[in-house]
Amino acid sequence: MEKLLDVKNLSISFETKKGIAHAVRNVSFEVYEGETLGVVGESGCGKSITNLAIMGLLPENAIVKADRLNFKGTELLNLNEKSWQEIRGEKIGMIFQDPMSSLNPCYTVEYQIDEVLKIHKPELNKEQRKEKVLSLLKDVGIPAPNERLKSYPHELSGGMSQRVMIAMAIACDPKLLIADEPTTALDVTVQGQILDLLSKLQKTKAMAVIFVSHDLSVVRDITDKIQVMYAGEVIESGSTEEVINEPRHPYTKGLLDSIPNFHKKNTELYSIPGIVPDLLNRPNGCQFAKRCFNRSDDCEEALPNIEQRDNRSLRCLHPVVTEGIKE
Ligand SMILES: Nc1ncnc2c1ncn2[C@@H]1O[C@H](COP(=O)(O)OP(=O)(O)OP(=O)(O)O)[C@@H](O)[C@H]1O
Ligand SMILES: [Mg+2]
Repeated sequence: MEKLLDVKNLSISFETKKGIAHAVRNVSFEVYEGETLGVVGESGCGKSITNLAIMGLLPENAIVKADRLNFKGTELLNLNEKSWQEIRGEKIGMIFQDPMSSLNPCYTVEYQIDEVLKIHKPELNKEQRKEKVLSLLKDVGIPAPNERLKSYPHELSGGMSQRVMIAMAIACDPKLLIADEPTTALDVTVQGQILDLLSKLQKTKAMAVIFVSHDLSVVRDITDKIQVMYAGEVIESGSTEEVINEPRHPYTKGLLDSIPNFHKKNTELYSIPGIVPDLLNRPNGCQFAKRCFNRSDDCEEALPNIEQRDNRSLRCLHPVVTEGIKE
């Protein structure tokens, strides 16, 4: 399968009034055609900005460095704005956490999807675009699409708005869809429906998907592989099955143990103590050490290297040993 995205040693810093905040450090990963990658970790660990870097949407005060930030053979670092626009939307689509604030309240559903088509599919005439808008609304499961064309965002539920956002993101058949916490703002039933929809679209449209969530139980059913981020670093990655069933990093284990009934056992719910380090003043050594139940003195001396074995990677001196938990 073709490699779509190739990220090698991506680092993102921000110039702030208090100094330079090193938000993402040496993140490397790859996404192949049709593959689904889950990115998980607590709030502030760099999930969104990593993906914004791939879309060229970071704010002005961001400093981005990488050995490679490559999409289908195109190097994305230092692209000009025109080339970015071609990549965005046409080749990489993105949906965000809050559909309500991502749609423009002043325009109808039809108008907003049509705008995307006008920019990226200039070969289509007005009628063809209208047809395409209708078929997109059908694809994302909007009932009575004809009647929805003239709806304004405030007339749609959260779930419907997210479906419209998804329609806009897939309008140009992107090879890669980045979904950044697409269900967090929705209630649980609707969350499930949107996850099912994304899963269905991923298969029927043969898209690769990067699915960002702070919740491992959300990504477990819909991803092929997972990377766990902590304080802007990837601390563990591997196939979804392996990471979930045999987590090796104590942080991953902690995340899993803090999900209610995750292993379908009546074990006590765990909560990871402490808080993430200050990005302006990072500690030496493993960034998680202060909060880790498995730490030793050597953890705080130097940052552990990433150990790569088969398709798994791990940044930890004292990994947990789990017996495989199979259901
Ligand atoms: N413009 C900015 N200036 C300074 N720091 C920033 C800026 N944008 C993001 N950061 C910092 O970068 C870090 C990573 O942020 P990011 O939004 O990627 O986290 P996240 O993992 O997506 O969290 P969440 O789960 O809350 O969405 C945070 O500590 C954040 O404060
Ligand atoms: Mg985020």
